[in-house]
Amino acid sequence: MLVAHRGASAYAPEHTLASYQLAIEQEADFVEQDLQMTKDGHLICAHDAELSRTTDVAELFPDRATSRDPEGSGAPKRGWFAIDFTLEEIKRLDAGSWFNRANSFAARDSYKGQRVPTLEEAMKAIGDRAGLYIEMKHYEFYKSRGKDMAVALAAALKAAGYDKSDRREKVFIQSFSRASLLRMREVAPTYARVQLLPMDDAGRREATSRVTIALAREVAGYARGAGPSKQMIAGPESIETFHAAGLLVHPYTFRGSTTAVSRRPLDERQSNGSTLRQNIISEIERFIDYGIDGGFTDYPDLWREAIKRKAN
Ligand code: G3P
Ligand code: CA
Repeated sequence: MLVAHRGASAYAPEHTLASYQLAIEQEADFVEQDLQMTKDGHLICAHDAELSRTTDVAELFPDRATSRDPEGSGAPKRGWFAIDFTLEEIKRLDAGSWFNRANSFAARDSYKGQRVPTLEEAMKAIGDRAGLYIEMKHYEFYKSRGKDMAVALAAALKAAGYDKSDRREKVFIQSFSRASLLRMREVAPTYARVQLLPMDDAGRREATSRVTIALAREVAGYARGAGPSKQMIAGPESIETFHAAGLLVHPYTFRGSTTAVSRRPLDERQSNGSTLRQNIISEIERFIDYGIDGGFTDYPDLWREAIKRKAN
C-alpha cells in the first residue's frame, strides 16, 4: 500500500494541493496529511507547527514571531507558529515558492502561490481518488492551548462523509502520540489507528525505539497498525514481530538519502556508484521482501516502479 508522504513531496511543494494532485497521478493509494491548528481552531495541512520553512510567513508578518515549544522539549523556539495565526492570515501565505528555490531542477511556475490547504480542502480535492492517511501532530501542545485536535478531526471526517460504513476504510489516523490515538478511539472509534514509532509521549521514546514483542502487543491493544521508522527495522523478523501481534506495518520514509529540505536530482550518482533513483527503488524492494504491508514515500512513482519490478 503506497502512502504519498506529504503528497508527491519530492516533486512538488509538500502539503499543497499540487502535491496531492501529483500523488494521485502517480497512483498513490493514500495521500498523507499532517495536521496543525490555527488560532481560530481550523485544521490545516502542514508538517511543521512553525510555518517559516515552507511559507513566506516571516516576510508577510515580520513582527509576529513568538517563542513556543510544540515538541515539549523544554527548549522553546522562536518562530511563526500556526497557532498564532487565523486561517484568513494563513491563507495569504505562499506555500510553494520555497520549493522552487530549494529544488531548481524540479521547479514549476505553477508552484508559486500555492496555498496551505485546510483538511476540508484536502478532502475535497482528493475525493474518492485516494484514501486519507492523516497524522495528528503536537496533540498535547494544542490541548494545552484549549484545542482538542481529535475532536476537530472527528468532526471534519464526519462532515465529509467518511463516517459512512463504505468510506471508513479510506481513512487511517496516525500519530507519534499514544495519548492522541487513545483520545481518537474515544471520540471516533471506527477509523483505523496507526501508532508511529518511536512514540513521543513523555518518557516513552527510548523504550519504543526498538521492536519487541511487548511493544507490538501494547500497540495492538488500541491500533490497527504500526508505523515504525525504517531505522527500527532490522529485517523480516522485525516485521514478523508486528504481524504476530496482528498489526499492519507501514514504515516511513522511503526517499533514499534525500530529506524534505535537501533533494537531489534522481539521475545523480551516489557514493555506492548507483543513481539516487536506483537506490530509492532498491530500498523499497528490500522492505517489500521483508514483508511490509505498505509504507510512506516522497516518490510515489518509484514505489510503483519497485512493485512492477517485483512482479516481473
Ligand atoms: O507519518 C509518517 C511520517 O510522516 C512521520 O514522519 O516527520 O514526516 O511526519 P514526519
Ligand atoms: Ca507525517
